[in-house]
Amino acid sequence: MNILCIGAGYVGGSTMAVMAQKCPEHRFTVVDVNAARIAAWQSDTLPIYEPGLPEIVREIRGKNLFFSTDVDRGVAEAEIIFVSVNTPTKTFGQGAGRAADLQYWEKTARQIVQNSAGPKIVVEKSTLPVRTAEAMERILNSNERGIHFDVVANPEFLAEGSAVADMQSPDRVLVGGHDTPSGRRAVQAIVDLYAHWVPRERILTTNLWSAELSKLAANAFLAQRVSSINAVSAICEKTEADVTEVARAIGLDSRIGPRFLQAGIGFGGSCFKKDILNLVYLCEQHGLPEVAEYWRQVVVMNERQEARFVSNMLAAMFNTAAGKRIALFGAAFKAHTSDTRESPALAVCRKLLEERACVALCDPHALENARMDLGADAARVVFEPDPYRAAAGAHAVAVLTEWPCFAELDYRRIYADMYKPAFLFDGRNLLDHKALHEIGFNVYPLGKPPLLHE
Ligand code: NAD
Ligand code: UGA
Repeated sequence: MNILCIGAGYVGGSTMAVMAQKCPEHRFTVVDVNAARIAAWQSDTLPIYEPGLPEIVREIRGKNLFFSTDVDRGVAEAEIIFVSVNTPTKTFGQGAGRAADLQYWEKTARQIVQNSAGPKIVVEKSTLPVRTAEAMERILNSNERGIHFDVVANPEFLAEGSAVADMQSPDRVLVGGHDTPSGRRAVQAIVDLYAHWVPRERILTTNLWSAELSKLAANAFLAQRVSSINAVSAICEKTEADVTEVARAIGLDSRIGPRFLQAGIGFGGSCFKKDILNLVYLCEQHGLPEVAEYWRQVVVMNERQEARFVSNMLAAMFNTAAGKRIALFGAAFKAHTSDTRESPALAVCRKLLEERACVALCDPHALENARMDLGADAARVVFEPDPYRAAAGAHAVAVLTEWPCFAELDYRRIYADMYKPAFLFDGRNLLDHKALHEIGFNVYPLGKPPLLHE
């Protein structure tokens, strides 16, 4: 079969690479309107940093995995089309700031109709509001040539930084479709692809709307856990409780479980906030204001966490950061990715710039994306890949992304080159706080008592 994926982003690129490796008898093409992105997928430097991905792409590119900008031709030749274009939050008009912006999505649907001569299965890979498939089906099946399209929802649950491993060994794969003869055939075709490597009992089939809603609900639950532990971290700081100890104590309850209980400066990434706001908007649309408000608080709590971290920094540094050099360790929204979309590290950076601090930003893989995301603010930031140089002459170091390399630095050397008193704010509880205190730092972990020198 010819299988096409429209959208060569984090999801399209990674999922198709793994699927193509696991299904060598099929031919996979990933297309995108962004020519630079396609050129990067065809080069030795892929457009995204994802452990394990370059090896797979190198192995199968040109064999059964192809990248192209020719969307029309790709559509014409394909029997199955995955659509994994971006679905950002709408910035204008009705629902601005909450609803999903479906313009790229609808454009894709129309492009599929225009370039199809026969029936196809169209797979929703992007995260979409519930019942988007209904609109998709109407656009696709309103063609005057009598071509029938089946729409299947196959939301993606991979996380960045572990995309390859998540795809190779998913907790579950979800395929939603209509309970009609052709709907069931379409679902089966997608199930058969995954069955090449995923045990059958981990492939769930549901109706279309459950599949669409499950994706939004899964992200809302995950983000809610992060906001819950961050809310606990705020109480810890007022009471001398230790959030790591509390997280361990509650996580050992098998009903709660230990994962996703790491307090930090807040959740980031392109999806959590966008998908919760999308859910909030859906609830409002369906006349459920209390349900909408319930989920909105997850985002409110997250914004509060970023702001609280900066307030704590200021309070510790004698209520002023103006003119002080502050080294920020981390720009990516989490470790093992170059992605800075909605990164809480950049939110902290912007707030410190408002305070007129001199910010030196350090990250092993995300500085280029950070520069782009910061826009005009980038002119006021020193981008420094070397953490020792970033911290030299600084009043404070703040750890904002949990990159393991930041835990392996020589903090004696860093301390020696800093202004005194030297402050260390560990927004991810990554470092050995006691050892840092012994070196001489005033250490402010997150959600635990600070370790200070008089
Ligand atoms: P992305 O922005 O990295 O990639 C989307 C790509 O689609 C872009 O390269 C863009 O140029 C391309 N595109 C847009 N319109 C197009 C068109 N008409 N024709 C061809 N190409 C077009 O986005 P992403 O992070 O890969 O996310 C894609 C979808 O998957 C989103 O709905 C997101 O919510 C969802 N998702 C993302 C993740 C993640 O970890 N990033 C995980 C699960 C689900
Ligand atoms: C998340 C989900 O985990 C994926 O299942 C989903 O497919 C994806 O969103 C999506 O729809 O885009 P991702 O955003 O890549 O994946 O990363 P996560 O590992 O979920 O982390 C999200 C944010 O929460 C990061 O900023 C991370 O630092 C933060 N986080 C996570 C914490 O602060 N504490 C934790 O314990 C866990």
